[in-house]
Amino acid sequence: MARIYFLTVALVLLARVAEAAAAARAFFVFGDSLVDSGNNNFLATSARSNFPPYGVDYPTHRPTGRFSNGLNLPDIISKSILDTEPPLPYLNPQITNGQNLMMGANFASAGIGILNDTGLQFLNILRIHQQFALFQDYQTRLSKKIGRGRAQELVSHALVLVTLGGNDFVNNYFLTPFAPRRRQFTLPQYCRYLISEYKKILMKLHELGARRVIVTGTGPLGCIPAELALSGSPNGECAPEPQQASQIYNSLLVQMIQELNNELNSDVFIASNAFDKNKDFISNPKNFGFETSNVACCGQGPYNGLGTCNIFSNLCSDRSAFVFWDSYHPTERALRLIVQNIMTGSTKYMNPMNLSTAMAMDAPRT
Ligand SMILES: *[C@@H]1O[C@H](CO)[C@@H](O)[C@H](O)[C@H]1NC(C)=O
Ligand SMILES: *[C@@H]1O[C@H](CO)[C@@H](O)[C@H](O)[C@H]1NC(C)=O
Repeated sequence: MARIYFLTVALVLLARVAEAAAAARAFFVFGDSLVDSGNNNFLATSARSNFPPYGVDYPTHRPTGRFSNGLNLPDIISKSILDTEPPLPYLNPQITNGQNLMMGANFASAGIGILNDTGLQFLNILRIHQQFALFQDYQTRLSKKIGRGRAQELVSHALVLVTLGGNDFVNNYFLTPFAPRRRQFTLPQYCRYLISEYKKILMKLHELGARRVIVTGTGPLGCIPAELALSGSPNGECAPEPQQASQIYNSLLVQMIQELNNELNSDVFIASNAFDKNKDFISNPKNFGFETSNVACCGQGPYNGLGTCNIFSNLCSDRSAFVFWDSYHPTERALRLIVQNIMTGSTKYMNPMNLSTAMAMDAPRT
């Protein structure tokens, strides 16, 4: 009798292990163009990239709505860390086919920010509260398919990525010298306001079931080709004001995440200063195998930093030699180095821990 019991327990345990191994970890993505994989293709907005030469190095060599020459940040995390296919954009009707819904979903929409008034010029985009409403819609759909209990489990075991904040500077505060937010706030005040609003957003995400969330800071905003061109930088020196903005903002972000984790009594949120890696590339491009860090591969004007990347733009031939693909977004090669840093970076970049440590903690115990 006892033997049969142990045998049954052993078999059940084995089955559980096999199930855990077979079920890939779901992945949910929220935020702006750095992580939008094509939601904006389905919206009436100018914030799009579904035309050449975007996607020139994508496996299909076609534009998809990703703001990259090839793979974007969520793609690289899916393929090289989670060992899965990236989740589909939630607005893509194929999301309901087969296993797609179980893989998670990407809710990101180019042009949005922390604030509702960021990216107003792009008209119809999915602001963060709309992304959350769609996440709730997703959970209802998933529950209908696999039951409420399993759906909740899938969400709480998922990896979540949130990339927000860059547009609150480049497409809001620094958009024009007379921007309303600029007249309302000094730069440090504005950063504090953004972070207090961001905290509410992350609390909402936790309320919606997220339990392991990577939150990226901004890159060195003063050094992106768009700001170099706008500020009239003579020799590639980074624009001081946006540069100061990212410094204040990123350090407040780390503090806020610490506070939030303390309040939740759990390290749900991980602050990633990985875009700051760009700063290392910028000070020393050759050390990382880049030829240039301040000229965009695709664009026009000084530093190829004016206007959008499109079929009439200058286009470099070797994308892997450039840190920036267009005036704002890194190349696939720079993004791969950034993901490597998210995975294995020291606490200089990853707080309270890097993703490999977090994933070891999250692994099902056997
Ligand atoms: C932004 O809009 C959402 C929904 O439209 C609202 O719930 C939220 O309070 C707004 N945020 C701010 C800071 O006004
Ligand atoms: C991740 O972070 C920990 C703690 O900072 C560090 O010891 C480790 O070397 C990092 N990298 C990996 C691959 O775990």
